[in-house]
Amino acid sequence: MDRFNTFRISIEAYYLANKRDLPWRKKVPIPYEVWLSEIILQQTRVAQGTPYYNKIRAAFPTIEALAHAEEDKLLALWTGLGYYNRARNLQKGARQILADFNGKLPENYSDLLKITGIGPYTAAAIASICFKEKIGVVDGNVYRVLSRYFGITTPTNSTAGQKEFQAVANECIQQTKEPDVYNQGIMEFGALHCTPKKPNCMYCSLSTTCHAFNSGTVTELPVKLKKGKRTKETLHFGVVLSEQRVALTKRGTESIWAGLYEFPQLTEAPEHGQLLSEPKVHKLSHKELHCSFWEVSEAEISGDFNFYTKEEALELGMPIIIADFVTNMP
Ligand code: ADE
Repeated sequence: MDRFNTFRISIEAYYLANKRDLPWRKKVPIPYEVWLSEIILQQTRVAQGTPYYNKIRAAFPTIEALAHAEEDKLLALWTGLGYYNRARNLQKGARQILADFNGKLPENYSDLLKITGIGPYTAAAIASICFKEKIGVVDGNVYRVLSRYFGITTPTNSTAGQKEFQAVANECIQQTKEPDVYNQGIMEFGALHCTPKKPNCMYCSLSTTCHAFNSGTVTELPVKLKKGKRTKETLHFGVVLSEQRVALTKRGTESIWAGLYEFPQLTEAPEHGQLLSEPKVHKLSHKELHCSFWEVSEAEISGDFNFYTKEEALELGMPIIIADFVTNMP
């Protein structure tokens, strides 16, 4: 038997014995639910993402409901998950499905790729889990597991690496009758067992045939090219309180926080303002934001803003650093 098949069989056995019971993992999976869960779980762990899944699934139970949702309401439910374009693209995708696909997700990989926000990973997940198509999923967990088991040292964030890992993933899935079990299995195994730090090699059914375990290179894999350091940026927010209301402004369409609400920004530290807390640091993938919150008067802020009570504000989509501040206001 070839190594791909040996691996595939162990992964499927692992999944059947260890799979978590998650709300979107049904005997007959609902494509909308799988889609929603996979978008939420990009950049987010299952434990953190599941409460968001439950809230959003309850608020928008169907593709149609999601398509017709108020964007502010969706973004408010998304607050804290980050990468807000995922939410906006999810809704664009829902609208496209109503307009072009009779309100149903397409049932194969190549048509799924036509939907806004669905890339190779999400298309492979939906196609395999819902429609048993044999396309291997490749995400962070999969890079780690495949690089260790097969001893692949090509950097995962290089073009050559992406091609190679996709090819190996497809090779592994070819011989199964249950593409849904294999794909969910490799992700589950990466999330729970073959973890980044302290993987459980002592009790691993794959260790005898694992390249990294047998060559003592588990901690060196996967190989990733170093990206440049995060750049540091300072933001000054003007907090104007008036009769139990606070001024907020909606950001324009550009930038990572597009369409989210925030305190009006000041171009520099104000001369007449009281600092309300130590600067808070917020890390994005490419930037490190140092945010200061100043209590100022209305005369010191400019642009479009409106006043909201704390309760009203918490119904809006806000970057988590703003939402946390609002939550802690008196
Ligand atoms: N992480 C992202 N998608 C997942 C899935 N379908 N199963 C386990 N972990 C995941």
